[in-house]
Amino acid sequence: METRSVLRATASVRAFAARSVDDGVVYDILDDARFAPSGGNRQPWRVALVKDRVIRRGLADAMKPVWNEYVALAQTGRTPFAVVDGAPPLTTEPADVPFPLIDDIESVPVVLAIAADLSRIATMDADLPRPTISGGGSIYPFCWSILLAARDRGLGGVMTTFSIRAERTTGPLLGLPAGHALAATIFLGHVDRHLTKLRRNPVEGFATIDRFDGKPLSSGAQQPSRVD
Ligand SMILES: Cc1cc2nc3c(=O)[nH]c(=O)nc-3n(C[C@H](O)[C@H](O)[C@H](O)COP(=O)(O)O)c2cc1C
Repeated sequence: METRSVLRATASVRAFAARSVDDGVVYDILDDARFAPSGGNRQPWRVALVKDRVIRRGLADAMKPVWNEYVALAQTGRTPFAVVDGAPPLTTEPADVPFPLIDDIESVPVVLAIAADLSRIATMDADLPRPTISGGGSIYPFCWSILLAARDRGLGGVMTTFSIRAERTTGPLLGLPAGHALAATIFLGHVDRHLTKLRRNPVEGFATIDRFDGKPLSSGAQQPSRVD
């Protein structure tokens, strides 16, 4: 596929056609994704292709309460689990909300658990008085490359992070090695029809000149992008 259309039209897919995906295809997807960038090129990723029904069910059972909690928190209008100005914790048990991707996890063609070896990540913001963010930069480009490589083969998928919140359960279930963190669970499969119209904010809404409180960067501006 042409790069621009892949960038602009790779949607999250959470429902798949009832067709299996060969392990060889998953191998080839990972063989492309391994070229993703990572800090110091340390490639901290580990991948488990989860085929076992019992492990899948265990993952789903651990992820479902996180989804229910997410939905209940989202109803407050604030971002669930945000460390700054996020939704306040729930005071009551959240209701069960159907989510076929998790509820029918046994029928999802491909389930990938992605982990990161923390000893291979230089966490540049580890000492700052705020939660760290930089370490994720060494694993999420790899996750995104998996989705792009899948898209190139006509597959769709979604990166999910429910399993991280439940890592105390999902980690042992997956044999997560010491010193590693779960980063995502990626679901992949064939898609009958690809959604290509994505809702995203315009550049003017997030890009400014010189400083984050500067003038918006506008479309078609004739100024050079640097001053010599
Ligand atoms: C870091 C990250 C975490 C995500 N976690 C979840 C998740 O736990 N569950 C889920 O259904 N989707 C998850 N997503 C997918 C987002 O919901 C999706 O990218 C976003 O809603 C845009 O959807 P679209 O590309 O179909 O427009 C995640 C995406 C990213 C990049």
